[in-house]
Parts: sequence; C-alpha cells; structure tokens
Amino acid sequence: MPFTLEGKTALVTGAGRGIGRAIATRLAGAGAAVIVNDLDDEAVLQTERDLRTHGHRIDHLTGDVTRPAFPQQFVDAALQAFGSVDIIVNNAGYTWDNVIQKTTDEQFQAMLDIHLVTPFRLLRAASEYIRETAKKEIAAGQRVMRKVVNITSIAGTDGNAGQSGYSSGKAGVIGLTKTLAKEWGRYNVNVNAVGFGLIDTRLVQATMGEGANIGMRGRQIRVGVPPDMLEGLISRCPLGRLGSPDEAAGAVLFFCSPLSDYVTGEILICGGGLHF
Ligand SMILES: NC(=O)c1ccc[n+]([C@@H]2O[C@H](COP(=O)([O-])OP(=O)(O)OC[C@H]3O[C@@H](n4cnc5c(N)ncnc54)[C@H](O)[C@@H]3O)[C@@H](O)[C@H]2O)c1
Repeated sequence: MPFTLEGKTALVTGAGRGIGRAIATRLAGAGAAVIVNDLDDEAVLQTERDLRTHGHRIDHLTGDVTRPAFPQQFVDAALQAFGSVDIIVNNAGYTWDNVIQKTTDEQFQAMLDIHLVTPFRLLRAASEYIRETAKKEIAAGQRVMRKVVNITSIAGTDGNAGQSGYSSGKAGVIGLTKTLAKEWGRYNVNVNAVGFGLIDTRLVQATMGEGANIGMRGRQIRVGVPPDMLEGLISRCPLGRLGSPDEAAGAVLFFCSPLSDYVTGEILICGGGLHF
C-alpha cells in the first residue's frame, strides 16, 4: 500500500451490503477508523462484526439517512466515537424505476431525497467541523487533506430510460460535487464523485420471480434489472462483465487516499467502459 489512512475517520452511508460494505472494508484495511450506517440494522451489524473481527476500529449508526435529523446525528456519532471527520462517502441509495407517465411525485421526490438532498445535508452537517478544524490547521502551517466522495451513476451522466428520478438525483449530486469542490478547496477538502456502471449487487441482480425488495418507510420497493436487459447491457460493456463491489470500492479508495490530493471536482466512471 503506497499510503496509509491511519489516524483518519471515515463515514460511509449504506454500508450494510454491496458497494458500501466493500468501501468500508477497503477504508478500514487502509487503516481508517470507520463509522458505518445502514437502514437495515442486521446488515450494518454484520459489516461491523466482520471488520471488528479483523481488528479494525469500527462503529455504526443504524438509521434512514433521508430523515432530516439523521446527517447531524451521524457526524456527531463519528466525532464522539473517533474524534474527527476526515472522509465522507455518500453511498446509500436505491432505485425506484418507471417510465415518466407511471412515476408518481412521491417516487420522483424519494429519488431526489436519497441521492441528492441527503448528501447535501450530510456535507452541511459536517461543514462546521471541517471549516473550523481546517482554519486551525492552516493557521498552524499544516496542510491536512480531507475527502468527500459522492456516489453517482452512468444513469446520472448519460440518462437512462425508466429512471427519470434516479438519473435526476444522480445528475444533481454531480452539481453538488463540483460546487463543494469550489467552496471547500480553501479548507483542503477534495470533493469528487465516482459513477458506477453495472456492479454486481442487489441493485442489479436479475429480477427473477419476486426479485429483491427494499423496505422503505413502510413500502416494499422492488429493485433489480430484468434478465434480458441485463444480458444486453453486459454484451454492450467493453469488459463484458459486471464489476465486483470490491472493484467499485477501489475507485472510491483512490479518491479517499493521498494519491488524489490534487484532484477535485471530478467524476470518475467505474463501469467497465459501459455507457448508456
Ligand atoms: N450496483 C450498481 O450497479 C450501481 C450502479 C450505479 C450506482 N450505484 C450506486 O451505488 C450505491 C450503492 O448501491 P449498491 O449497488 O451497493 O446497492 P445495495 O442495495 O447492495 O446497497 C445499498 C445499501 O444502502 C442502504 N440504504 C438504502 N437507502 C438507505 C437509507 N435511506 N438510509 C440508510 N441506508 C440506506 C441499503 O439498505 C443497502 O444496504 C447507491 O448509491 C447506488 O445508487 C450502484
């Protein structure tokens, strides 16, 4: 490893499974203390147990990140557990798809809430700590880089039929990323986004029979991609396969590491070359 994240604290949302769990694992493996969140208590506890077994410093806060009060609670929990906030990964997300004429206001708003409003609230919640800490470091002549990584999608950069809400949320978070890169450069924060193509998680697993459901505020929302559509996409992907959660996490780790200290406001696509 050409770097270490020893002494850094990372916050990762939606880390009970899939890409978020892989990101938490990569960050902990690089030496960071990690506080993980998920809606699903059992899943987030499993992530915590796995990482603790390997001797990593880990804590968790279960909860729905879209609740307006949650982001501040998550920042406070990180400060209480580990004493700093150095890396924030806005990863929690899900899909709730349909063509526009069948998309309700609630559905469209839910996609903006999870993919755009929540990252905004979490970064706003962290801003006081980040600004005040950076001012002291700069006054002491130190340059300490902090990292924000927002998770987007090729649905956000390219658009995707059947995903007006999801694509809008994922496109919106790119605007947030580029703006915060400009606001927070003076505080030595690198703010970047990673956009995924097709990564092998519950979100893309082929919807056979019942498929996978996500329980969200009392609703069961079906996620997954129909098998024929998934096959078609894989055949159009230059690398000819889905990416693994660990491969996805590698791209995120780059933006969390000192290797990206002079990169900010950028979108890295990790999708095997696939574009919609
Ligand atoms: N899998 C892909 O191909 C793909 C492609 C592009 C972008 N993404 C994005 O990557 C991120 C991770 O997705 P994944 O594929 O690992 O999916 P996943 O379903 O395997 O994991 C997502 C996790 O987020 C959690 N979550 C969802 N809503 C939440 C909420 N309101 N509060 C707290 N936790 C919540 C879920 O419980 C789940 O554990 C998402 O932002 C997704 O949009 C994934």
